[in-house]
Amino acid sequence: MTINRTVFITGGIRRIGLITSKYLHKNGYNIVTTYDKSAKEAKILHKNLNSIRSNSCEIIKVSLNSKTDYNLLYKKIVKIFGRVDVLINNASKFYPTKINMVNNKSWEDIIDTNLRAPLFLSKYFYPELKKRKGSIVNIIDIHINPPLKDHIIYNLSKAGLLALTKTLAKDLAPSVRVNGVSPGAIMWPESDMNNQKKKKEILSRIALKRIGNPEDIAKAVLFLIKDADYVTGQNINVDGGRKLNM
Ligand SMILES: NC(=O)c1ccc[n+]([C@@H]2O[C@H](COP(=O)([O-])OP(=O)(O)OC[C@H]3O[C@@H](n4cnc5c(N)ncnc54)[C@H](OP(=O)(O)O)[C@@H]3O)[C@@H](O)[C@H]2O)c1
Repeated sequence: MTINRTVFITGGIRRIGLITSKYLHKNGYNIVTTYDKSAKEAKILHKNLNSIRSNSCEIIKVSLNSKTDYNLLYKKIVKIFGRVDVLINNASKFYPTKINMVNNKSWEDIIDTNLRAPLFLSKYFYPELKKRKGSIVNIIDIHINPPLKDHIIYNLSKAGLLALTKTLAKDLAPSVRVNGVSPGAIMWPESDMNNQKKKKEILSRIALKRIGNPEDIAKAVLFLIKDADYVTGQNINVDGGRKLNM
């Protein structure tokens, strides 16, 4: 009997999340993912993956914030394919918050998305993941150490996500493995697309002298969920060697 393993990935409809959803789907996983504002992209992915393999993808709209009922969300998701084997916390907010821009709104927006959601999703998915001998992958960032200038709240959120990864690896062991993947420069932030000077400066510090590909992240994720049975509490930097020159 073929088991249809299921991945739940947050924000898997655009950019890195989209390529990860497609890559894992190509490798036989059913995909459940979420969108918040990108309804058009969600519809396209849903059609695309289900035309490749019928009933293999479901997408739900959710805004990850302090008002989200994570228990209800979990129940809804597990009902779709009757099982969830992998939780990938990918959805993220990324924008500068200089010290004078720190306020309740930016704190809640970034921390709720990048840290609160991964914690509460892990809490509610834990019994299901335990049953499936599954795993969690958190998409972090190489920039937590050293931190990215003028991004106080983002840095804190991702540093917290690394701490969460290690804490959960201890607390959910031995039944659920928890790891992180930290992208380097994979896709330029949409706000920096035309900043050629900044792009050149970043490229000069990458050992492999090129920007990464979203598939590089997807491959690291697949390794962690499928072939890394004896790996937990780790964070893989996928950055073309940028960490060597930070
Ligand atoms: N791009 C890079 O090179 C890079 C570098 C380092 C780390 N990373 C990390 O890699 C992951 C993917 O990066 P990316 O650049 O592809 O991400 P992104 O485009 O910035 O965001 C991914 C998705 O997150 C969803 N999202 C954001 N806030 C949400 C909320 N409150 N509720 C629900 N969904 C929300 C958005 O969905 P909607 O569009 O539907 O609103 C968005 O499509 C992120 O965790 C990021 O921090 C990326």
